Amino acid sequence: WSNALCKGYAFNAMATHPLLVMLRSRQILRSKIMTEILAVAQRGEAILTLKAAPVAESELGSAWLNQLSNAMYTTMMQRSGVGIAAPQFYISKRIIIVASRANPRYPDAPDMDAVVMVNPEITQMSDATCIGEEGCLSVPDARGEVVRAETISVKYLSLAGEPKHVTYHGFVARIVQHEVDHLDGILFVDRL
Ligand code: NI
Repeated sequence: WSNALCKGYAFNAMATHPLLVMLRSRQILRSKIMTEILAVAQRGEAILTLKAAPVAESELGSAWLNQLSNAMYTTMMQRSGVGIAAPQFYISKRIIIVASRANPRYPDAPDMDAVVMVNPEITQMSDATCIGEEGCLSVPDARGEVVRAETISVKYLSLAGEPKHVTYHGFVARIVQHEVDHLDGILFVDRL
């Protein structure tokens, strides 16, 4: 998922202005996080066509899994994505992040806290479908109208290994379906 429009901040305030100082410290924070930005696999690369392996129980709660999740999240945010899957970072494991938020392209998208889903499994899909535009950080400059189930239930583990079972509708359900597709080697362009 990508959103070409991203907010940029330009300011010409006096250097001592408190707001400017605050923004500067945020920029420093951001530049630290930027070191974790990962390269995104692009359409045509074999990694995106593989069925990803489940995360092992021994990996749950591990430093490596947390670091991977942080780097995935940071890269997704930096690229204005609303979802991402580990295979997009050359890691063929069943991990996705779903992070819908309103943006100029999807003004009606619900705001949610980002959810990391380990070994997600869609347990139910509604017969009712809806059509909506999708994009993908692995398929730049392409967008397409994709038919998806309107409502889905997804079972997954948190990073710490807690089992969850959640039902989503509409745009968020669409993101989950798009990201789970990545784990099965499917891109949205394969569904057009
Ligand atoms: Ni994608």
